[in-house]
Formats: sequence, structure tokens, C-alpha cells
Amino acid sequence: MASESVLVDETPDKLKVKGHVQYETPDTISPTSVHHSPLEQFHIWFNEARKAGVHEPESMSLSTATPTGIPSSRMVLFRQLDTRGFVFYTNYTSRKSQELLANPHASLLFFWREQTRQVRVLGRVEKVSKEESEEYFKSRPIGSQLGAWASRQSSMIHEGELHARVEKLQQRFGVREGDSAGEVPLPEFWGGWRVVPREVEFWLGKPSRLHDRVRYLRKEGSPDDQPEWTIERLSP
Ligand SMILES: Cc1cc2nc3c(=O)[nH]c(=O)nc-3n(C[C@H](O)[C@H](O)[C@H](O)COP(=O)(O)O)c2cc1C
Repeated sequence: MASESVLVDETPDKLKVKGHVQYETPDTISPTSVHHSPLEQFHIWFNEARKAGVHEPESMSLSTATPTGIPSSRMVLFRQLDTRGFVFYTNYTSRKSQELLANPHASLLFFWREQTRQVRVLGRVEKVSKEESEEYFKSRPIGSQLGAWASRQSSMIHEGELHARVEKLQQRFGVREGDSAGEVPLPEFWGGWRVVPREVEFWLGKPSRLHDRVRYLRKEGSPDDQPEWTIERLSP
């Protein structure tokens, strides 16, 4: 991929972006070349992204919507793929979690620029078990554990309030500055969500915008832990 900076036309009331790099990836995908399971295909692509040195391949956009269909997106970290779906962790009182509680559907998007690949996942969400959240919470650096306690994510906050809260929490849990371990319990209001896909699309950027797209659709009535899929090519 060429690396020149993006060209723009700027006037006081407009910013126009001109042109774009041509995607030149030599690889191709088709419904017959991909794995029969999109979760396995994701696993293959994720490992290829890691090996290709993609920066933060685990970062993904998460879109949620209110029950009346007003969408919002933000980045989160993909933390686990299992036989049911894709797991990320967050605060259960945050805006995203409020939206997921009221409307349990989500869309995930991975973009691996270095490989000109994107993966879109659509599905229902479910909370992961407390045990799984606990196991993940304990694996996080202690500063992040305290951070999870300190943040009333998505609510208004005053300057300096967060750090004051962290200091109080350090005292409460007996954590000292520079400690790398400690006994910080999992907050009740924090844990994982799993997106159980009903549709997954793999996209590969090609020259002249003639991209490859392969979409998996879950067959009606197939079980969550052993779903069957229809696989088809989409026009770019
Ligand atoms: C690369 C990246 C990764 C992030 N990962 C997470 C994450 O795993 N969990 C999380 O709650 N917020 C994460 N954030 C912060 C969110 O984007 C967002 O600001 C926050 O979760 C509040 O979103 P909400 O108000 O829509 O609920 C991440 C941000 C970036 C840029």
C-alpha cells in the first residue's frame, strides 16, 4: 500500500478529502476458499493479522442502538473467541451496556489496514458468566482493576474526581503505588458481553474498488453452539 498522506481541498466552510490509496492485496477469498465456519475463518484471519504485524488487531468498533434505532459506535477490545461468539469487557452501567440491555443486538467491525481487510459481525448479545468475567478481571493489571472500580463509565464527572476516587480505592483495597498485584474484587457493575453472530462478513480490499466480500448467514433454527451457515459472495 502506498503511504502518501491524504490530499485535501480546504475552504473556510468545507474540508474535502480527495482520492485514496489503491488496495493492492494479491490474495483473494471466495465462498469456496473460506472455512465452513465463520468463527474458524475469523480465527485464521486474526492469526494472519497478528503475524502480519497489524497494529492492535484486537481493537474493534462496537455499534449498539437504542430500542428506537438510534445507533452509536465506539472502539472496544476483542478479548475472546469461543464456540458461541466474540467477547469484550466493559462497565455494565455504561451507555453501550444500557443500550445492549434495552436492545440486545450489536455490530462489531474489525479493520486491519495493513492487510486491507475488514470483518463485520452482527448478532445478539448475552452477558458472559460471572466466573468468566472474574477470571478476565483478575488477569488485568492492578491499575486497570482499580480503574474499572473508579469509573462510572459514560456519566458526567468533575475534573480531578477520577484520581481522587482511585486514591480512595487504593486505600480501600490496600493497594500501594507501584504494586503489581493485590486483592481487588470484580465489581458487580463490570463484566463481559458476548456477541453471538447471525451474520459475519469478510472483506478484502482489491484494486479499483473491486473488492472481495464473503458473507456467512446463520441458517434458521441451527443451534448456537453448532450453527450451520449459508456462504455467499457479495458485490463490492
Ligand atoms: C482502541 C480502544 C479500545 C477500547 N477498549 C475498550 C474496552 O475494551 N472496553 C471499554 O469499556 N471501553 C473501551 N474503550 C473506550 C470506549 O471506546 C468508550 O469510550 C467507552 O467504553 C465508553 O463508551 P460508551 O459511553 O458508549 O459506553 C476503548 C477505546 C479505544 C480507542
